[in-house]
Amino acid sequence: MNDSQLVDLACAAREKAYAPYSKFAVGAALLTRSGKVFTGANVENASYGLSICAERSAVFAAVSAGETEFEAIAVVTENGGSPCGACRQVLSEFGLETRVIIADNERNQTHWTVGDLLPNAFRPQHLKT
Ligand code: THU
Repeated sequence: MNDSQLVDLACAAREKAYAPYSKFAVGAALLTRSGKVFTGANVENASYGLSICAERSAVFAAVSAGETEFEAIAVVTENGGSPCGACRQVLSEFGLETRVIIADNERNQTHWTVGDLLPNAFRPQHLKT
């Protein structure tokens, strides 16, 4: 699974976005270290605050399937928008080295790591005494 293939899967996931309020569709595809891919799309709600982002949909699907080690996540929006702070925090739980591929709908890519996007993150080890 190369980065372009992962972006293709995120593009396909984006087609399933439920975004009647913002009209801003987001798709994500998360590659685990074991080679599986979990996808997600944003799912909005009439009670706006209950909406969930594509990235967290994908992470929660993976974790729910027992996968917590991630290689990369591709995120696709119309304009190459960057993951929100909440999604950065959720991704950081599982490692700062996870690569983040941000793409627009023409499949132009930029490459980051979770650590790049969330410097000085609050991490699980901060809870350990
Ligand atoms: N959204 C995502 O899915 N991921 C992000 O990282 C940023 C924002 C969604 C949430 C909402 O459904 C729409 O984009 C507009 O904010």
